Amino acid sequence: MKISAQGHDPAKIVSDLLIVPLFGGAKKPAAAAVDAALGGILSDVIAEDELEGKDGEAATLRTFGKLSSGKVALLGCGSKPFNAVAARRWGARAAAAARAARARKVVLLVPDVADPFITARALAEGLLLGDYRFLKYKDEDAKKHGDNAIQEVVLSVPTRKVSAFEKGIAAGERLSRATILARGLVNEPALEMTPGKLVEVAKAIAAAHPGRLSLQVFDKEALEKMGCGGILAVARGSDEAPYLVHMTYKPKKHVSGRGPGKSKKRLAVVGKGITFDSGGLSIKPSDFMEDMKIDMAGCAAMLAVMSELPELGPDVEVHGISGICENMPSGKAIRPGDVVRTMGGKTIEILNTDAEGRVTLADTLHYATTLKPDAIVDLATLTGACMVALGEEVAGLMTNRDKLGAKILAAADASGELMARLPLVEEYLHLVKSRVADLKNISGSRYGGAVTDGLFLREFVGSTPWVHVDMAGPAWAERESVPHQPLGATGFGVRTMLEFIEKF
Ligand code: BES
Ligand code: MN
Ligand code: ZN
Repeated sequence: MKISAQGHDPAKIVSDLLIVPLFGGAKKPAAAAVDAALGGILSDVIAEDELEGKDGEAATLRTFGKLSSGKVALLGCGSKPFNAVAARRWGARAAAAARAARARKVVLLVPDVADPFITARALAEGLLLGDYRFLKYKDEDAKKHGDNAIQEVVLSVPTRKVSAFEKGIAAGERLSRATILARGLVNEPALEMTPGKLVEVAKAIAAAHPGRLSLQVFDKEALEKMGCGGILAVARGSDEAPYLVHMTYKPKKHVSGRGPGKSKKRLAVVGKGITFDSGGLSIKPSDFMEDMKIDMAGCAAMLAVMSELPELGPDVEVHGISGICENMPSGKAIRPGDVVRTMGGKTIEILNTDAEGRVTLADTLHYATTLKPDAIVDLATLTGACMVALGEEVAGLMTNRDKLGAKILAAADASGELMARLPLVEEYLHLVKSRVADLKNISGSRYGGAVTDGLFLREFVGSTPWVHVDMAGPAWAERESVPHQPLGATGFGVRTMLEFIEKF
């Protein structure tokens, strides 16, 4: 889908479909000239069909040569203000209306807005993210109506605002491209997206940006040498070998050095990379296992973020790290009661092999601290408990630095991703202390599982400023509750992280 902005008269742009906004409660479309060219038909339809301009409400008509577009659609955009959330929604509704009208070229008459950049970015996100479908395993007929069905979208805007809109479109395209990359990796079944395959993906991303991205891959033997007992323990039950990947983005400007006068900061992004979580010997009931290919969504988000940094070009050194393996039961699998030693030397008593994320993150978070970053952010589909606490669509954020946490929350807000802070309650720390090891991997309490997991992870970051994002819920859309998020993988975390990195 090619998106552009033009200052021409929308009635004169040749297209299959012209989409006109209708605000809540308005008697007329926000497009007097188009309505006039059509002899007032749009106003008539609004009156006769009792259109209310509600979000998602649409009426499509043929223009019979009265406009340069074959069809015109009135598309509800809800009540004002037309902010980023509304624009993202409306963009996705426009993509749906275009699909329904089988339109290949579409013109969107953009309502007059105060901030063209933010609006254009959100519209582009809505169009691109809303048009995405994972159809790799569907037949040719389904693929015809898949993504890329819409070839061209023109945003019709005031001439003096074209360049601001163009900048916003470019930003929205970048963010959407990365989000869609992450969605694709997560949607791919675990049969295909094995640890080895995920490492190949990381290699391909690094290879596509020579000189800007570099990659280190640690295989099983290397993990043994490094003492990564957590990753090795979780991987034991699987026939797939484990890895730790470390991708590095270096900004162009400052070549090296930090300290006074040097602006360059260093950030580590850590992603949970379990390509399938069966639970291991503490096996999950089958209906809890159905979606567990999503357990590498943190890793996918990390890779997608890294892939976009060379083009974004932030003045931040970014390290993307993930321990990648599969959690399976077998005669070789780790057992409840086993004790493992992690990279930093701390020991963990494994009491439930389904609490595997924190065990692999123990190694990867410690590895991240050895890079001496200014901050670590981890993205992990960690606990069902977080979904109990916040519902399916909100990620839980925990941190050892209030200000850093607030920055991530602000970035999430600007990106339209839902995140809320959970407290790291000191009084619960004893729940993850073990009698036989330093820590145990479950608290033994039925309550507060997201928080006790956060406290567990905190033990592995030392004094490094750190934010933990538990995205077990929002990584996957079980239903289409927002139009820019079709069923399946959402690519959660990508846009928040890219927004955060630009401002870090
Ligand atoms: N990967 C799961 C968490 C999860 C649940 C992600 C639902 C996405 C959707 C994690 O490894 C897990 O199994 N957590 C257990 C922890 C428990 C055994 C302490 C859980 O949440 O039930
Ligand atoms: Mn698990
Ligand atoms: Zn898991």
